[in-house]
Amino acid sequence: MNIPAAAHALAHDLLAFIDASPSPWHAVRTCEERLQAAGFSPLLETERWVLQPGGRHYVVRGGSSIIAFVVGTQSPAEAGLRLIGAHTDSPGLRIKPKPAEQVAGMVRLGVEVYGGPILATFADRDLSLAGRVNVKTAEGYESRLVRFNDTLLRLPNLAIHMNREVNESGLKFNKQTELPLLLGVADDSASESRFRQPIASALDVAPDDLLTWELNAYDTQKGTLWGVDREFIADSQLDNLASCHAALNALLAISNPAATALCAFFDHEEVGSESAAGAAGSFLHDVVARLAAGAGLDSEDQRRMLARSFFISADMAHAWHPNFPAAYEPCHHALVNAGPVIKSNANQRYSTTADTAARFMAICAKAGVPCQQYAHRTDLGCGSTIGPIVAARLGIASVDVGSPMWAMHSIRESAGVLDHSYMTAALTAALAE
Ligand code: CO
Repeated sequence: MNIPAAAHALAHDLLAFIDASPSPWHAVRTCEERLQAAGFSPLLETERWVLQPGGRHYVVRGGSSIIAFVVGTQSPAEAGLRLIGAHTDSPGLRIKPKPAEQVAGMVRLGVEVYGGPILATFADRDLSLAGRVNVKTAEGYESRLVRFNDTLLRLPNLAIHMNREVNESGLKFNKQTELPLLLGVADDSASESRFRQPIASALDVAPDDLLTWELNAYDTQKGTLWGVDREFIADSQLDNLASCHAALNALLAISNPAATALCAFFDHEEVGSESAAGAAGSFLHDVVARLAAGAGLDSEDQRRMLARSFFISADMAHAWHPNFPAAYEPCHHALVNAGPVIKSNANQRYSTTADTAARFMAICAKAGVPCQQYAHRTDLGCGSTIGPIVAARLGIASVDVGSPMWAMHSIRESAGVLDHSYMTAALTAALAE
């Protein structure tokens, strides 16, 4: 198939974005760097905000959620807000607070399962550590990002000779006993110091000055384009850094919008969003309230603002897999490289309504982008997104959309090169609507 050079270039930029973002904290840092380069200035939640039409700003909560916006030239009471939401976190393995354990001459790290990963895909991968560490300082402590480019960790499979049924019964791991990650051969030092030493060296501090950490076991293999025309993308964390990247590029592409344009990227979506920085927390509500206050809206005009607003929950969608036709609802096959998918669920696992779906279809038409509709098989449990949470909390019209992908929650997911360009164009049109 014919893939325009611009679509390949955008896909390569997505791979660079993901490579720079091996944890939610890194993802926020990556967004900050790109926003600053485009003239967005940081706001602090602890300070008073002064907002002017045309102002370009961003604010971070908890180090792993970020909201960026361009203040519209019209009053939000008249124009409403154009909002896009996505998430910075991905399912995987997180290192425990005191992880190092010595077992029969080996040091291994205890992990917690974060969200719902396909655990078998984490075996035999080149894993390493990325996240944030709190380091003791003269004043107390400070939070630092850390990332190892070298492969430090591995979860080797059990040989088929000891797991004879693996191809018939599937690859299964006991989460407590069989998931700890191998770090190295034990030596005379305590296993705890075998874990602390490389982190301390990377941060140039003493091992005892490492206080606490939130560390992700990430895949060091870089993303790639594949397929006979390189029409597909393979990488970790496509769910949902691909949506963050598309939304961020949409925000960077618009200038002087009439309606305030805002992107919110939340942590903790994969574990239910119930946290201070998550979509069920007050972060978006607080920022919207401050936007309204900055525009001088009274409580009546604040309600008018919300009633005129539109929220797009951008999260990945399930693509039709030709090898597993029975997994899908007939007439709802979302094809890779055939455009953004509108996700509907009568039980409100997705926030889409007939009205908001029609509105997104019109946005796609305006952007010259095809779009598709998806519904899950009736006898299978459907996933959810931040869409219903934000729609309920703010009371604004909302639609759930996403680019089609294969292997959602694998450590190595796949999606379409064209779809990423289509989604970016659709979201750009939505913010300028
Ligand atoms: Co997701």
